Amino acid sequence: YPIYAQQNYANPRALNGKIACANCHLAGKEIDVRMPHDVLADTIFKAQIDVPCKYEKRRQLIADGSKAALNIGAIAIMPEGWKLAPKDRLPKVLKKQMKGLSWSPYSKEYPNIVVAGPVPGSIYERMVLPILAPDPNTQKDANFGKLTMYFGGNRGRGQVYPEGNQSNNNQFFAKKDGKISAIDGLKVTIEGTDGSTITQEVLAGGQIVVEVGEQVVKDDPLTTNPNVGGFGQAEKEMMLQDMNRVWAYCALATSIFVAQLTFVLKKKQFEKVQLAEGF
Ligand code: HEM
Repeated sequence: YPIYAQQNYANPRALNGKIACANCHLAGKEIDVRMPHDVLADTIFKAQIDVPCKYEKRRQLIADGSKAALNIGAIAIMPEGWKLAPKDRLPKVLKKQMKGLSWSPYSKEYPNIVVAGPVPGSIYERMVLPILAPDPNTQKDANFGKLTMYFGGNRGRGQVYPEGNQSNNNQFFAKKDGKISAIDGLKVTIEGTDGSTITQEVLAGGQIVVEVGEQVVKDDPLTTNPNVGGFGQAEKEMMLQDMNRVWAYCALATSIFVAQLTFVLKKKQFEKVQLAEGF
């Protein structure tokens, strides 16, 4: 859950680019993000985060060992000064596209990072995020120019809890070489070659794939892998456009056009002189 990240990671993006969710959502699955390439200062625009999965058909293992639909969640890491669009300025169209999805700032320290979820995947497969671009003329913490935004999107349950213990959404493996000497419910006992035994408890969910009497090697699977979800990251570049830059370009383009035109006119005039003087 995003709240696990908020409680355990002051800054959710590590220096190597890994977003905190990936520490517990170990399986990877692609996401897709779309947003404009350029925006002007103090305007509202949308980022569209697609977290695809077959939500109507696919069901996942939940904590009590039964099956349920998948939920999704997302995180967006924007540069300093950028934030969630305020509700009173949201265009109607955008509000409708959001389908009531609510985003919240990651922390007091990072209002430029926002999170959403968990929400049902069948409704929010396409998550719409309304962003307000800053105005560098009035905001000291923002600059015009090119910048990068980072996104993370997740469907399904994680593999690790904040305390470090595994969830039942994991595949379990033999801890040592040996023979399966007993299976009692979820407890699998392995008798090592040296005669010592260990009893491993697998969590409710995946099916046990070994039988009593079977030889196993360390790290052989004891259960199937129940996980059907996964976490994905994406990176997008965009430009906070300064209107003065656009005007300056227009002025440059016009001056080049006028200069070229005067060269042509001068040439025409010179040709007339040549004709008159009979060259
Ligand atoms: C569950 C998203 C960070 C561990 C979930 C679910 C979502 C989600 C949407 C519900 C899945 C479902 O019900 O189908 C995210 C996002 C994160 C994040 C977007 C980052 C912003 C973390 C972190 C941890 C974690 C840092 C571990 C410390 C889990 C676990 C579950 C879970 C163990 C399953 C809980 C249960 O059902 O018992 N997460 N998560 N998540 N998440 Fe995360």
